[in-house]
Amino acid sequence: MALSTAPTAAQADAFATDVYGGLTQSPQKTLPSKYLYDAVGSALFEVITHLPEYGLTRADERLIKANAQDILARTGPVRTVVELGSGSGRKTRWVLEACARHQPCTYYPIEISATALAQCGRELSDIAGVKVLGIEREYLPGLQQITAMRQGESPMLVLFLGSTIGNFARPDAQRFLGDVRKMMRPGDALLLGTDLVKPTQTLVSAYDDALGVTAAFNLNLLVRMNRELSAGFDLKQFEHEARFNPQASAIEMHIRSRVKQSVEIPGAGLTVEFEAGDTIWTEISRKYLAPDVLAMGAQAGFTSGGQWIDEDWPFAETLLIAA
Ligand code: AVI
Repeated sequence: MALSTAPTAAQADAFATDVYGGLTQSPQKTLPSKYLYDAVGSALFEVITHLPEYGLTRADERLIKANAQDILARTGPVRTVVELGSGSGRKTRWVLEACARHQPCTYYPIEISATALAQCGRELSDIAGVKVLGIEREYLPGLQQITAMRQGESPMLVLFLGSTIGNFARPDAQRFLGDVRKMMRPGDALLLGTDLVKPTQTLVSAYDDALGVTAAFNLNLLVRMNRELSAGFDLKQFEHEARFNPQASAIEMHIRSRVKQSVEIPGAGLTVEFEAGDTIWTEISRKYLAPDVLAMGAQAGFTSGGQWIDEDWPFAETLLIAA
């Protein structure tokens, strides 16, 4: 497997601009969490999903495996399944098999990574009655492209699994659901996976595992800036931190400076000053109460088509029907 692909000039420019904007913010330096997912970061995230402390992905998969038929019984005869993110074939397979049991369907994973799309195609192309057509775009333009070429009356099912919505700031998550709803017809369905509130220590361990994989996932952002922007981060002078913010009901990942130091980032035209203990905030991972997910859906123009909750690792699959 090739672990690094050179960014295009446009991607390099966007990264430099976002690093400049995020690291000049005061008092809290930030970086957008999407930059965690270069080739190394994506591989580390896949490892995270197998860690004993990180029950989220297994709960999501358990729920879908156990309830796919029930979910498809509630949506009606779906011919178009769209997934925001190409996801893990492991989870999506259950939905597609349940769908194709009734009629042939087309599965459109939307994903900006061509490698992830190709992998998803290989994983899922063996399901009888399912055609896989990857869309290499951002989520909303990808969804727009699919809805523009829709034919027939059968409902569309959109999957947004794995609690990726939790990585959006609260207003952005609400806006995103509204934007998705605007591209749907009444009767279309959105299956939304969300991680739920659980004891703080369980959550902190899930984002600060004993093996240090999540720490590597987070600190890889510094490696990425060193490689792509010729930055001078000395990784030994920084550490990973996962903290629960009760006001936001969210785990926050930070990169903490162990000492007072200054770091040159020539590719972003920047020198960054850190006091000992200063952090770069790299990710929010919101944890919901089950009724809040339904309320968010209602505000975006959906009614409830059902909600399934895992007993071992509180996590909800919520079926939202476009009103
Ligand atoms: C992709 N996303 C839902 C993960 C989460 O749990 O918020 C990303 C992650 N960050 C650290 N561990 C996993």
